Amino acid sequence: MSGSRVALLPGDGIGPEVIDAAVVVCDSFCPGDYQFETHLFGGCSIDASGTAMTDETLEACRAADAVLLGAVGGPKWDTTDADAPRPEQGLLGLRKGLGLFANLRPVRAIAALVDASPLRPERIEGTNLLVVRELTGGIYFGEKKRTELMASDLCEYSVEEVERIARVAFSASRGKVSSIDKANVLETSRLWREVVTRVHAEEFPQVELEHVLVDNAAMQLVSTPGQFDVILAENLFGDILSDEAAMITGSIGMLPSASIGNPDGPGLFEPVHGSAPDIAGQGIANPLAMILSLAMMMRHGFGREEQALAVESAVDQALAGGLRTADLGGSATTDEATAAVLAHLK
Ligand code: IPM
Ligand code: MG
Repeated sequence: MSGSRVALLPGDGIGPEVIDAAVVVCDSFCPGDYQFETHLFGGCSIDASGTAMTDETLEACRAADAVLLGAVGGPKWDTTDADAPRPEQGLLGLRKGLGLFANLRPVRAIAALVDASPLRPERIEGTNLLVVRELTGGIYFGEKKRTELMASDLCEYSVEEVERIARVAFSASRGKVSSIDKANVLETSRLWREVVTRVHAEEFPQVELEHVLVDNAAMQLVSTPGQFDVILAENLFGDILSDEAAMITGSIGMLPSASIGNPDGPGLFEPVHGSAPDIAGQGIANPLAMILSLAMMMRHGFGREEQALAVESAVDQALAGGLRTADLGGSATTDEATAAVLAHLK
C-alpha cells in the first residue's frame, strides 16, 4: 500500500511552515506511503493568477486521494470591496467543489496541557468532544446582496442537507448528540430541529439527543465542556463554537479538522487555526494542529487507523515531555516541535 496521492495546499502565512512539518513527519515515519504534489491556493494564488483557486488546482485536488491544507488569508488580501478576490473564496470553493459537507473537529483536553487552558483544570478535565459542522450550506453559501445602503446574506437549508449531516453526527456519537440551533428565532433552525429529531427517531433511537440554543451552548461550552459528546451545528454556529471549544485545549494551534462527505472524492484535512500573519516567517508556529490533521487524513482519508493513532500518541508524548510552542506559553520552534513529535514515532 504505497503512493497515495496527496495534494498539498500550503497557502499563506504560517501555512507553508506547518505543511512542511506534516511532510517531514510523513516522510520519516512512513516513507513512500504518500506522494505529495504542491499547488498554489489562497492569497498566493491571487498574487500569481488573480484568483484564490484556479480550475487547475481544483482539478488537481479532485484527482488526488486526499488534500492537506495549511491556511489561507492575510492582511495583504483583506478588503471590503465585494468585487476583489479573497483568499477565503478559495477555501469555500474547494469545500463546495469537493462536496465536503461534513466537517469534524475533535476537541480533547490533553492532560499535559491543562495548565495552558484559560479555563480551570477541574472544568476541562475529561473533555473529549467532537464538533460536527455542516460545511457547504447555510449563510456561507446563500445569495449575497450589496447596495450603497444595505447588505444581506441569505441563510438557506434543505431537508436533505440537514439529514445527511445529522447522520454523520449520530454515527460519530458515543452516546449523546447536542444539536445546536436558534429555533426560537430562525426558520432554518426550526427546520433543522425538526429534521434532526426525525432522523434520530427513525435511524438512531439508541443515541441520546438534546437540542441546545446556540447562545446557551456557547455558555455551557466554557462552564461544563465535559458534558458534551458530539456537537452538531450548522455552518456558521459550528465555525464560532469550534473556535471557542479550541481554548479547552489551551490553544487554537492544537485543533485539527477533517472535511468529508463525498464517497467518490478526496477528503480535505486542515488545522482549524488561520494563517497567523503576525508570526508568519519566524519559524515559531505550532505545527501540532497540522500534524494532528495529518493523523485525521490517515484515519478518515485512508482508513489507516494504526498510523493515525501512532501520530496522535507521539503528539501526546511530546507534550507530556514538556514541548511548548509560543502559543502554549513556551519557546519551542516549529522545527523543534516537529522533532519532538518525531522522537516518539521511531
Ligand atoms: C474555518 C475558518 C473559515 C470558515 C474561514 C477562513 C473562511 O474560519 O475554517 O473555521 O469560516 O469556515
Ligand atoms: Mg473558523
